[in-house]
Amino acid sequence: KRVAILISGGGSNMVSLAQSMTGAHPARPCLVLSNVAGAGGLAKAEALGIDTAVVPHKPFGKDRAAFEAALIEVIDAAAPDVIALAGFMRILTPVFINHYAGRMLNIHPSLLPKYKGLHTHLRAIEAGDAQAGCSVHEVTAELDGGPILGQGRVAIEAGDTAEALAARVLPMEHRLYPAVLERFVQGNREMLLLD
Ligand code: GRF
Repeated sequence: KRVAILISGGGSNMVSLAQSMTGAHPARPCLVLSNVAGAGGLAKAEALGIDTAVVPHKPFGKDRAAFEAALIEVIDAAAPDVIALAGFMRILTPVFINHYAGRMLNIHPSLLPKYKGLHTHLRAIEAGDAQAGCSVHEVTAELDGGPILGQGRVAIEAGDTAEALAARVLPMEHRLYPAVLERFVQGNREMLLLD
């Protein structure tokens, strides 16, 4: 199986995904694509020997359809079976989502369905939650709303700042996403819970 990974920044989730796809794992990364030229994850992907591409969103302005058409052209040239969004910070329209229906995943840094959108850790702290975490879900037209395939939970500790909590959730992301992807490429949709 071929996996294309979309990033916008440092790509730490991309690295953990790429490093998991070795040996007997049925998948291999076929492309790392960023919407931001110079994203830190691009150099990491190149160091891992993975083909990279950049499709900046800025030149397209408000024309999401044209940006997504450019994305699809570059992605489909790599013939992926699965698309993994990993720190990809652009909202995708139903056109793009339908093109990859049933074979696109995303990782979101909250225990969905709580805290869709941004600033998830701060919101969990301010709500006085005991736990926070991350979710891997299939991407559907509803933002951060598709079927959840896995979740990783971490405790929120007294005095936690959003940064401190993020620093504990990110390693959990790096455990969860590879585990869910390995199941997903083999057709296993069973929910995975990590603590
Ligand atoms: C992570 O918190 C991830 O959950 C979110 O983007 C952040 C950075 O991810 N989607 P990465 O280091 O670029 O993979």
